Amino acid sequence: MNMTIEQAGLMLADPLAYADEPRLHQALTLLRREAPVHLVEAPEYTPFYAVTRHADIMQVERDNALWLSAPRPVLGKKVFEEHARQQAAQGVQLKTLVHMDDPDHRVVRAIGADWFRPKAMRAMESRIQELARRYVDRLADYGGECDFATQVAVHYPLYVILSLLGLPESDFPRMLKLTQELFGGADAETRRGDTAEDQFAVLLDFFAYFQQLTAARRAHPTEDLASAIANAQVDGKPLNDMETASYYVIIASAGHDTTSSTVAGGLHALIEHPGQLARLREDPGLLPLAVDEMIRWVTPVKEFMRTASADTTLNGVDIRAGESVLLSYPSANRDEEVFTDPFTFDAGRDPNRHLAFGFGVHYCLGAALARMELKALFAELLPRLESVELAGRPEWTATTFVGGIKHLPIRYKLR
Ligand code: HEM
Repeated sequence: MNMTIEQAGLMLADPLAYADEPRLHQALTLLRREAPVHLVEAPEYTPFYAVTRHADIMQVERDNALWLSAPRPVLGKKVFEEHARQQAAQGVQLKTLVHMDDPDHRVVRAIGADWFRPKAMRAMESRIQELARRYVDRLADYGGECDFATQVAVHYPLYVILSLLGLPESDFPRMLKLTQELFGGADAETRRGDTAEDQFAVLLDFFAYFQQLTAARRAHPTEDLASAIANAQVDGKPLNDMETASYYVIIASAGHDTTSSTVAGGLHALIEHPGQLARLREDPGLLPLAVDEMIRWVTPVKEFMRTASADTTLNGVDIRAGESVLLSYPSANRDEEVFTDPFTFDAGRDPNRHLAFGFGVHYCLGAALARMELKALFAELLPRLESVELAGRPEWTATTFVGGIKHLPIRYKLR
């Protein structure tokens, strides 16, 4: 079915559009070709410019003095933005790395950065491999058929990130629910309710949990990331309660749904492309490239936003100070100017200049961890799978922010 540029732009503000990927990509392809910086005026949203080309997104992300994160970091309905402003006036405010600009951003990012560098990752490798084995072993317990998304993919990355933070296993189910409520706020299956108050209540629950954690780690410091955050000093002072809780929220949430969506979407891609699955089995050395291709293919983070701090021009379109742009990562990652056959899943794609982790000063802090988790899981899974096929129709999350396949029914035989 044909669509107009106007209709294509409106899809970027429609959570349901992300649950129908072929149609979404039809819209994004049209925008890239005809209106790469396009003003979207959706009824319930403050207007924004949708930026759909790889080169334009890089240009925005590169210039973090001109393009700020703090005023409007992600897309939200006007009522939610207004409610958040009222809460902030009363001192309750989510202020994570993605809500900050330099100089604060640089200082606060440095607190957690060492925990995600390749050296720290190498130290975690054997633990991650052990967890990957544990979750692949579960497939044997399920007896040949399962929902891979809900029974395997959602648990493994959450387990990794919460172990890194140092949280007790008994709290994991609660964290799983809160993360899904936070990111799946537009999906009827995961959201707590559909009002701004409902969504804010999820945040308050996160805060309450993490305030207790901060107090515990300040009283009795341990060797985990939670302790590093609780006891960090900026200009000789600890972070305040909101800042500490926000740091935990971003680690726990960003480190989880993103990777689990890629685990499920990665397996789905291999099922849909049996030739690539066979190729990967024959040459496991391709796995690091295949993992990046899965990340490009799935692109679990759908957007971040930036707001112009001065009047400017982007790809010929005038944008005034205070106006916002939405950076469409799924679109960048299918840009025909950058990728050969962008709609082909190529397990050996090299080079692969995808923007799924963003670019510039906000580049994903957990990129090395995510790659390691995905590599460990598929290194364990592929040799054990004798056969795998779909046992039903996969379903995608309705979200404009983070998500992917939420149900992946599979039938399989293990060796
Ligand atoms: C930021 C994607 C996994 C932690 C981001 C951004 C993207 C992204 C697009 C924003 C970048 C920008 O604005 O330029 C992904 C994808 C993942 C993933 C696709 C998995 C496949 C993780 C993991 C962690 C993590 C495992 C672990 C804690 C963060 C943090 C930020 C971030 C803390 C904020 C960085 C900042 O603003 O300075 N991620 N992420 N992410 N990610 Fe990830």
